[in-house]
Order: sequence, then structure tokens, then C-alpha cells
Amino acid sequence: MTMRSRSFLRALRRRADVAQIALALPPGSEEQLVQQLQHHGHEVSVLCSSADELIAAFEGGHVGPALVAASPLFLDSRVLAQADSCGVRMLALTRRDADRHYAEALGLLETAPMDAPWAHLEAVLLGRAEAPAQSEAPEAALGEVIAVWGPAGSPGRTTLAIAIASELAALGHSVALCDVDTYSGSVAPALGLLDEAPGFAAACRLAGAGGLTRAELERIAERYTSRHGSFRVLTGIGRPDRWPELSADRVSTTIRECRSWVDYTVIDTGASLESDEEISSDLFAPRRNAATRAALADADLVIAVGSADPVGLSRFLRAYVDLVELLGSRQPTVVMNRIRAGSIGLNPTAQVRQSLWRFAGIDDPVLVPHDLAALDAAVLGGTTLLDVAAKSAARVAIRALVTERIVRQPVASAGATSARTG
Ligand SMILES: Nc1ncnc2c1ncn2[C@@H]1O[C@H](COP(=O)(O)OP(=O)(O)OP(=O)(O)O)[C@@H](O)[C@H]1O
Ligand SMILES: [Mg+2]
Repeated sequence: MTMRSRSFLRALRRRADVAQIALALPPGSEEQLVQQLQHHGHEVSVLCSSADELIAAFEGGHVGPALVAASPLFLDSRVLAQADSCGVRMLALTRRDADRHYAEALGLLETAPMDAPWAHLEAVLLGRAEAPAQSEAPEAALGEVIAVWGPAGSPGRTTLAIAIASELAALGHSVALCDVDTYSGSVAPALGLLDEAPGFAAACRLAGAGGLTRAELERIAERYTSRHGSFRVLTGIGRPDRWPELSADRVSTTIRECRSWVDYTVIDTGASLESDEEISSDLFAPRRNAATRAALADADLVIAVGSADPVGLSRFLRAYVDLVELLGSRQPTVVMNRIRAGSIGLNPTAQVRQSLWRFAGIDDPVLVPHDLAALDAAVLGGTTLLDVAAKSAARVAIRALVTERIVRQPVASAGATSARTG
């Protein structure tokens, strides 16, 4: 990589204090900034003259925060994607409103005027404060986390997670739907969203680097929008080489940040509850189940979904034992999905209730009917059940689950906007 002046940089490296900062600024605008940040004990790790140089710095291992001029020469979508990929916190410096609009249009909401006091830039860069005025605001209540789990065999985890998120959004709550299923993540395709840059993995990387904030979550998330209400989506991870990014610590930090971001975080988990350490003694082996276990450990409410047919029921009952052990004193809410006479015999509702009670002591399951036409229409349209078949039997059952078992405080009116994040 070409540096503007290597001797200049060497001179800057005299102090080894708090943060290693990357700068990508027009010539002439960096000297004063460099003096200020040095004065406060930071170092400039790299001084870049273009977006390409900044990307190369990230690829070369720079992980500290980056101060970048909000202009196409220094900042573009490739830079942001690479920053997400490396867990680098970015702050765009602006000279005029148009610069701020440019950064915001790219999705980088953390901006500050080029001549802002160093204390403000430092607070944002190091994640100490999102905005100076916020400390005066009253503490908002933390959002709730709902994890949707079910055993292998596609019982309907993703279907249920999407439907719950859309019902909560339609009730006027702010909602984030997170795909942490490392085996078969499918929220993005189910909703017709892009999943080229997995949002949940990007959030975890930022969490690992101490750079995850509400503004970053807002930038990373995709948005599913409909006339019934919109919700954010942190899409899932498709490539096996990226599982280690979803370590338990990072997942927990991301979930914690989601609590202050939205009213409800709905998590579509994987099926396997096995601890990675039990499966492999290799310290460096991918930690594939850590995300599911961490999400279940952190959730306020766990929804356990099973498929209401003989094979699905038996899989559910076997795995349910492990779930109960993992949850300790917390009681999951059990949902039996795809209830139909054809697969389990006459009076399927009674049959399912009886089996759950007899073999697992589960006495009050939520029953969701088999509703192929509605579900097929939703998948085909890349949309939610609520949007495509509001009167369908499956939607009505899931709506009742949300209003009767999840939402504890009724909101003022349907479609009202949440106080936390609109
Ligand atoms: N109540 C229902 N009636 C009819 N079809 C359903 C119902 N619930 C889910 N399905 C269908 O079953 C299939 C599997 O559902 P889904 O993808 O939600 O399962 P999953 O548990 O997330 O599976 P995976 O292991 O692939 O993550 C989908 O095609 C979905 O449309
Ligand atoms: Mg799924």
C-alpha cells in the first residue's frame, strides 16, 4: 500500500496508548486532527489517500477505528462492507450537509463535522457515547428477546420467527429479526431480501471489536417493509468459514445491543443444542452451535416448535429434554406446528395434546394448523403470512400466540410507532 509519507507516520508512532486509528482524509485536513489525537494518547496506524488504500489497510489487519472523509474518493460501499467484515468502527467527517447526506445514503449514520471538538470524535470513535445529548435523556427500558428453537426436520422455526416478528411490528413495536441458524439460515430468501452480506455476522464482528452501536445495527440491518408495519432483519450466515464469527461472547454482546435498539428481538436459531466443546476438542474448530446456545441462554422467552406428525413429535420430545436442561428454571412456550388429521389421525388436536402431556408434562401448547396454501403463498411472494394471507388459519393461530403469550403490555393502537426506534 502506498502511504503518503512513511517518515511522517513513523513520527506519529511515538506514543502507544489507547487506539490505533486509520485516517482517510484529503491532504491538508489531517495535520490538526493528528496533533489532537496524538495529544490524547492515540496513534495513527495508517494514513490513506483513497478508498482503495483504506480497504487495503483493513485487509492488511487494521482493526482500530477509522476517521474517513465523507466523499466518494475516501468512502464508498466497498469501504463500508470491508469495515463490517473486519469489525472496524467508522466515523465519517463532513464539511457540509451534502457530505453528511452522502454518508447517510451509504448507510453510515455516524458522522461529525470535520472541525468537531476532539472529545466528541473520540467519544463516538471509541463507543463511549453515541451523541452528547443522550446522557440527559431518561434511560429507555430494554427490549425483550424471543428465541425460536425447534429440533431437526424443519418443524417451522423460520416460519414462526418471521410471523412473530411481523405480528409484533404490526402491533406498533420496533422489531429486529435475527437469523442465527448456522445450518440452514433462510430468513433472507424467505423474505426476498439480499443475503450477500450477512447482517448478524457483521454485527458479531463489530461486537468482537467493541464497535457495535445502535447506529451500526441500523446501518447493517435490512428492512422488511409492508403496509402492516416494518421490521429490521439481521440476515444469516451462509458460508461455513464464517461460523467462528458467531462465538457465544459476540452473539451475547450483539443481543445485548439489540435490546437497546428495538422493543423485540426475534431470533431464528439452529436445531442443534450440542455444545461445540463436546463435539470437538480442537480449540480452533469452528464453533457452529455457539450462536444457538448463546441465543437460548440470553432469551427472555424461548418458543420451542415441533412438527405435529409422528416423526416430528418424537424428534421434538427427544430434543425437548436437552432444551429444558439448557434453560434451567425458564419454561419454554411450546408450539406444535402443521396440525392436521392426515398425519396423526382423527382429532389431531387431542392426539397432540395428549402425547405432549404424557411424555413431557407439557400442558398448554399453542397449536398451529397445517396451512399449505397460505405458507406457499408467503414463500412464493417472499412475504409474511400477515401480508399475503391475513385470514389464514395459520396466521390467526400465530397472531393469538403473539397477543396472548408474548405481548404483555398492550400498545395504544395498532400501527402506532414505538418510542424506541420507528
Ligand atoms: N403451518 C404450516 N403449514 C404448512 N406449511 C408450513 C407450516 N409451517 C411451515 N410450513 C412450511 O414448512 C417448510 C419448513 O418450514 P421452515 O423453513 O419454517 O422450517 P425450519 O424449522 O426453519 O427449517 P430449517 O431446518 O430449514 O431451518 C416451509 O416450506 C414452510 O413454508
Ligand atoms: Mg429455518
